[in-house]
Amino acid sequence: MTLEELEIERQKSLAEINGVSSAEDVEKMRVKYTGRNGLIPALIKAMKDVPKEERPAFGKAVQAWKAEVESVLSSKGSSSRVEKVNELIDATLPGQWNTPGVEHPLSRVIAESARIFSRLGFTVADGPDIENPFNNFTALNTPPHHPSQDRRDTFWLAADALLRTQTSPVQIRTMLENKPPVRVICPGRTYRRDTTDATHSANFHQIEGLYVDVKPVSLADLKSVLAYFAKEILGSEAGVRFRPHFFPFTEPSVEVDFACHVCKGKGCNVCKQSGWIEIAGAGMVDPRVFKHVGWNPDEVSGYAFGFGVERIAMIKYGIPDIRWLYENDIRFLNQLG
Ligand code: PHE
Repeated sequence: MTLEELEIERQKSLAEINGVSSAEDVEKMRVKYTGRNGLIPALIKAMKDVPKEERPAFGKAVQAWKAEVESVLSSKGSSSRVEKVNELIDATLPGQWNTPGVEHPLSRVIAESARIFSRLGFTVADGPDIENPFNNFTALNTPPHHPSQDRRDTFWLAADALLRTQTSPVQIRTMLENKPPVRVICPGRTYRRDTTDATHSANFHQIEGLYVDVKPVSLADLKSVLAYFAKEILGSEAGVRFRPHFFPFTEPSVEVDFACHVCKGKGCNVCKQSGWIEIAGAGMVDPRVFKHVGWNPDEVSGYAFGFGVERIAMIKYGIPDIRWLYENDIRFLNQLG
């Protein structure tokens, strides 16, 4: 073959290749021209028959032809693939959204609290929502005439069954089932006959804490643990305040306030102008409670606390109404996620 004949073959091949469009025909062209037994490899093999002085020019022309055919075939190949995809799907339709869920703010506060207290050596304990009156009241030094036992305050299911009004019965369960020292927190649901408004709900969550040891435990230990917790969960500027209070199962008792998130302590509607929001009840475990679980109050001492998960979530995320936490409005939850 002469160089002129080669040029004619080249033009013919390009015309032929440009005329095809389907993936199958493109493949046929590849086999015909550049495949193992194709025209171009055959020409390369036959180079030895070309007169010596023409060989370099001829070789160059064949290589250029081969490169040209390959590039046209590959661009044809990709556009025929696009055509094939377009036959199968309509790329102009909107895509399918994949919306992974977000963790509920209450779950997040519980998980984060468990992480913080675990750094202080606390493990997570659990107890049932339906309790007996001994665990919820009697062992917690709360006698039958105490107002919290009133049918207007507690959901009684039967004479010996109620929806726990606090997570404190898990203190009793923990002490009945273990030996000192114990160091647990217990997140869980609690129930009270309460009318629902912006800051109250008949069903809410608490995290109980209990530390009892055979070595002396003091109110100062309790204060430092709760102050540490406040700073870890709300940030290093979180203000904490302790007020004397009364609980039947702790002596002395305190109420723990965190500085109001809205006004930063200046006073506003959310904190009822006080600058503080009540978060937790706490105190040193009352000796009578130890007696109820068969522990000797002369040998052990400890503290307990219980705080509201909703209150912390509201402060942490700036939520003005507790009801938003239960409505499960996806727009609200996604904003916090
Ligand atoms: N159980 C108390 C409440 O619900 C809080 C509390 C827990 C107080 C532990 C003292 C010790 O109000």
